[in-house]
Amino acid sequence: MSDHRIVALDGPSAAGKSTVARGVAQELGWLYVDSGALYRAVTWQLLASDEGAVDAPITQEQLQQMEWSFFEQAGAVAFQINGYQPVEELRNKAVREAVALVAAQPAVRNVVVSSLRSFAKMGSLVIEGRDIGSVVFPDTPHKFYLDADPHERAMRRYRELAQAGENEKAEAVLASLAKRDKIDSTRAQDPLQVASDAVRIDTTHLALKEVIEMVINRVMEC
Ligand code: CDP
Repeated sequence: MSDHRIVALDGPSAAGKSTVARGVAQELGWLYVDSGALYRAVTWQLLASDEGAVDAPITQEQLQQMEWSFFEQAGAVAFQINGYQPVEELRNKAVREAVALVAAQPAVRNVVVSSLRSFAKMGSLVIEGRDIGSVVFPDTPHKFYLDADPHERAMRRYRELAQAGENEKAEAVLASLAKRDKIDSTRAQDPLQVASDAVRIDTTHLALKEVIEMVINRVMEC
């Protein structure tokens, strides 16, 4: 067993998890992990493959063709898949529309969850996701569930997309987040849920700096 420590930050899209997780990791000197990036990478690989379909069951053979390597980079756990490090590709529209369906598939979850658990060997971690406190690291005492009003979340994502040069309408962003939230919270395996011992933080009216402080203070207490 590793004695490295884990902070689990779960919640729906655009609740502030990434900014908070990065800030907490930087402050504590622990490694930041974006677990969604692994689900996005599987989705990106499937979309790029000959089959191209993401709604059909994904076979073990397809998953075995994805060779992962994980390494530390700029205070985070980064990865290559089949010798390439995708970054921009993971946030494109095709990936974001398909990722929740891919992440709902048990075979995909099994592969990603076991990779995430293996990161504990690399150091203490601050991980953001949907099932980190409930499934991936259920024994950690540091569990947080970040949420915010759906309109506020949609506006945050809308601004992020606009900054990245994407021309999505605000209503389309709201609809797309709602669709992804629904798939994430109703899937059979490891749905998005609040772990019973998680600290819930509603970030709607909080500056993310305040949330980072709240999380760090709680982590320091235990
Ligand atoms: O950035 P955003 O919160 O919108 O998404 P993300 O964290 O990159 O996650 C993308 C998708 O991956 C989610 O909508 C889930 O379908 C899936 N995911 C998951 O199932 N479990 C996780 N621990 C993380 C992400």
